[in-house]
Amino acid sequence: MSEAGPLLLDARGLRKQYDTREGARITALEEVSVSLADGEFVSVVGPSGCGKSTMMKLIAGIVKPSAGEIIYRGQVVTRAQRGMGVVFQSPVLLPWLTVLENVLVPIRVLRMDRAPASARARELLELVGLTGFESKYPSELSGGMQQRVGIVRSLIHDPGLLLMDEPFGALDALTRERMSLALQRIWLANRKTVFFITHSILEAVFLSDRVIVMSARPGRILQEFTIPFPRPRDFDLTSTAEFGDFAREIRHLLGASVDV
Ligand SMILES: Nc1ncnc2c1ncn2[C@@H]1O[C@H](COP(=O)(O)OP(=O)(O)OP(=O)(O)O)[C@@H](O)[C@H]1O
Ligand SMILES: [Mg+2]
Repeated sequence: MSEAGPLLLDARGLRKQYDTREGARITALEEVSVSLADGEFVSVVGPSGCGKSTMMKLIAGIVKPSAGEIIYRGQVVTRAQRGMGVVFQSPVLLPWLTVLENVLVPIRVLRMDRAPASARARELLELVGLTGFESKYPSELSGGMQQRVGIVRSLIHDPGLLLMDEPFGALDALTRERMSLALQRIWLANRKTVFFITHSILEAVFLSDRVIVMSARPGRILQEFTIPFPRPRDFDLTSTAEFGDFAREIRHLLGASVDV
């Protein structure tokens, strides 16, 4: 049921090598090619250390590839992209700003209109269960709440592409399910293109049009799965045989790659 639009992002032949302080050279990614259609929700799963965060940083223009190139909206990515929203593995909030001010940082940086953004911020905060916390400071929030503020901040300037690096990793299981549903709602309402990194096979299959499975380091793409279930999806879907088939196949693939 993917209604994929035109190509938004095309990454070809990405390789990334890091030089460690001990003078060794690590190949984090090898020959990785990914394309994202406008409006598509694509997840990446793979073992720890296989280069998922690296791939996201390359796409965001924060880290430069050792080989290959990334084309976003027809242009080669050479530096950090303003049109992308990024959620990092751990929340990076400014401790001296309130929740609302933190959410509005991209608006300030991009010099966008504050009044409509504030209204949108309140709507999004409500969607993630943070109404009433607008004037709190990050130190007054739990880790999971801070992460939710980070997610709202990544959406506030209505980015064309949302890059999310294990955004729900720090959340408890129940909040995680709620956040998956909230993200699905946001995605259905705005049809953002989302590139979503997760350790959870269930989350990946539940949310995505496509799931990319990566091998252990050096990270390569092992296989891609197209997930056909219509939306909106609810968690009952996860107990169906069809859903289980996808989850099992991905788990086996990952198991095989980790054991090698
Ligand atoms: N700045 C860096 N300098 C040197 N090595 C790095 C650097 N960043 C990442 N690496 C190495 O590159 C590999 C891939 O790291 P990366 O963070 O992309 O993995 P990941 O798939 O996101 O892992 P996880 O699931 O644990 O978050 C790892 O072996 C890591 O040690
Ligand atoms: Mg990572």
